[in-house]
Amino acid sequence: MGRFTTSLAAAVFATGAVSQDFNVLQHLGGNGQWFPGPEVTGISSTTPPGCTVELAAFVSRHGSRYPDQGAYNGWVDFQSRLQNLTTNDPTLAFLSTWKPVLSSPDQQIAQISPTGYKELHAMGSSWRLRYADLYDYESPFSMWANWYNSSPRVRDSARLFAQGFLGPNATELGTVYALNASDPRSWMNSLGTSDLCPKYADNGGSPYTDVWAANYLPQIAERLNGLVDGYEFTNDDVSSMPYLCGFETQITGRRSPFCDILTEEEILGYEYAQDLRYWYGAGLGSEVGKYTMLPVLAGLVERFVDGPNATYTTSSNTTFTPSKVIAGFANDGQINQLIAASGIFDNEPALSANTSNPDRMFRASRFITMRGTISFERLSCAAPASNSTTYTSSTNNTTPGTETYIRLLLNDVVYPVANCADGPGSSCALTEYQSIVQGKMDAVGDFKEMCNATNEEWDSRPIASFWRDDTLAWGNVVKP
Ligand SMILES: *[C@@H]1O[C@H](CO)[C@@H](O)[C@H](O)[C@H]1NC(C)=O
Ligand SMILES: *[C@@H]1O[C@H](CO)[C@@H](O)[C@H](O)[C@H]1NC(C)=O
Ligand SMILES: *[C@@H]1O[C@H](CO)[C@@H](O)[C@H](O)[C@H]1NC(C)=O
Ligand SMILES: *[C@@H]1O[C@H](CO)[C@@H](O)[C@H](O)[C@H]1NC(C)=O
Ligand SMILES: *[C@@H]1O[C@H](CO)[C@@H](O)[C@H](O)[C@H]1NC(C)=O
Ligand SMILES: *[C@@H]1O[C@H](CO)[C@@H](O)[C@H](O)[C@H]1NC(C)=O
Ligand SMILES: *[C@@H]1O[C@H](CO)[C@@H](O)[C@H](O)[C@H]1NC(C)=O
Ligand SMILES: *[C@@H]1O[C@H](CO)[C@@H](O)[C@H](O)[C@H]1NC(C)=O
Ligand SMILES: *[C@@H]1O[C@H](CO)[C@@H](O)[C@H](O)[C@H]1NC(C)=O
Repeated sequence: MGRFTTSLAAAVFATGAVSQDFNVLQHLGGNGQWFPGPEVTGISSTTPPGCTVELAAFVSRHGSRYPDQGAYNGWVDFQSRLQNLTTNDPTLAFLSTWKPVLSSPDQQIAQISPTGYKELHAMGSSWRLRYADLYDYESPFSMWANWYNSSPRVRDSARLFAQGFLGPNATELGTVYALNASDPRSWMNSLGTSDLCPKYADNGGSPYTDVWAANYLPQIAERLNGLVDGYEFTNDDVSSMPYLCGFETQITGRRSPFCDILTEEEILGYEYAQDLRYWYGAGLGSEVGKYTMLPVLAGLVERFVDGPNATYTTSSNTTFTPSKVIAGFANDGQINQLIAASGIFDNEPALSANTSNPDRMFRASRFITMRGTISFERLSCAAPASNSTTYTSSTNNTTPGTETYIRLLLNDVVYPVANCADGPGSSCALTEYQSIVQGKMDAVGDFKEMCNATNEEWDSRPIASFWRDDTLAWGNVVKP
């Protein structure tokens, strides 16, 4: 019986490109649709016993979308080159008649797709249910989005989230402040801070990605070229297949045939290429990108230290009482930069261009997906025993008899902050987290110098104020 089961499993594995419990859609880096998890840190995401969540914040990538113009042009070009392909291989047979799946490219390119609508509505409802105590029924709700010049998809994501969170009165109750990151007044005070940083350059992870591409792609091209006549796959064709798998699947709502071409090992090579792309493009392996979202994080941490009941005087001398659920939307680059700033991966060894480390925690597939999200919880927990001196609260805005902590989650999974995880549920004392972020700001020293920026009106040590100011001139009001 045991032997029979084993050989049956082997037979199934041999006929399909990937084993049954390997979900290719969860290994596509930034090109996969959202999924929660996986639970790789072993830390429960339920609120630790004795604690309550007093404030919750997130910054999320936009939801699943159609391709940008450049990517779409590549698909059309690929199709035009495939016309003479013949094959006996069942997984490749579709290629000679394959067509890009966009029905109205002129209207769809760069926009959120229906799978994106679904992700964002579901996200809004989940956040409302998860943090039910942090929002008063039918009360006003403020959000922030990057005003992304190339497409409305980021602010549309905020609108769609609001519909899930607020329900049928979302238009009346919700306000999105879409921050124009190219307005010079928004220096380090937007959700696209790198836009005003001249020295920032996301080169897509090159040269590390080139070394890895030369390592893993040629052998796949060679394998596939052995299965077809009338066509020769290039390395670029091969690396577009997992991309097409992710995009076509979410655009059509059906599994794309591109998902069945590469083997599990080959897909893992692509997943690693995506990790190198983000780690070196603007993550901890970059020179400047790893710092550019620090002022945004520092501003959020201030908001967390000020506590759930804070009210603020804005730059226009009005009063602003921000919501206890703090929502921000941006693009993959900013999510990557914010995760780099967050401290989660500070002890992660640098990624090698030549060898993928199977134990690495840094996997874009788990947090820079479409709708990839970094979130934050302010926890108020019963104070530890009086003769413990581990956590001495130096925050004023704390409920008496409690201590205040912060927890960070990536796609709904708790990830510990490096060197600060000894609070309840592996959380970090909020004041200690504040020191960590301040230490990072100190390490940069002069942000203008870091960016090679010369504008005299800009602060050298900026902290984003948009989280507590709903009147900033570069915040364009958008209704859900
Ligand atoms: C397909 O084959 C025909 C005939 O050999 C040739 O003229 C044409 O250029 C080929 N098309 C492609 C896309 O390679
Ligand atoms: C929407 O707002 C109106 C008043 O503006 C209110 O009567 C109605 O109950 C609200 N709908 C929901 C679903 O809360
Ligand atoms: C953003 O700011 C730039 C620079 O000031 C300006 O040219 C552009 O029109 C602004 N865009 C929006 C949408 O406000
Ligand atoms: C806000 O109030 C302060 C002091 O009351 C005043 O100096 C400042 O000019 C006011 N700012 C604006 C934008 O009205
Ligand atoms: C990758 O390996 C090649 C030779 O195997 C070596 O020359 C190169 O320095 C390595 N690159 C990195 C970034 O490790
Ligand atoms: C206080 O500290 C002592 C000695 O370190 C320890 O034995 C005791 O269990 C502690 N009490 C509490 C309530 O934690
Ligand atoms: C607490 O409040 C006091 C007096 O209002 C102030 O001097 C101190 O800086 C505050 N501490 C913190 C951590 O906010
Ligand atoms: C915030 O206000 C609520 C309601 O007044 C109160 O119960 C709570 O303790 C306050 N929280 C903090 C941290 O001050
Ligand atoms: C900094 O900017 C100046 C122009 O303002 C330019 O000449 C110089 O090359 C830049 N330096 C770096 C390191 O980017």
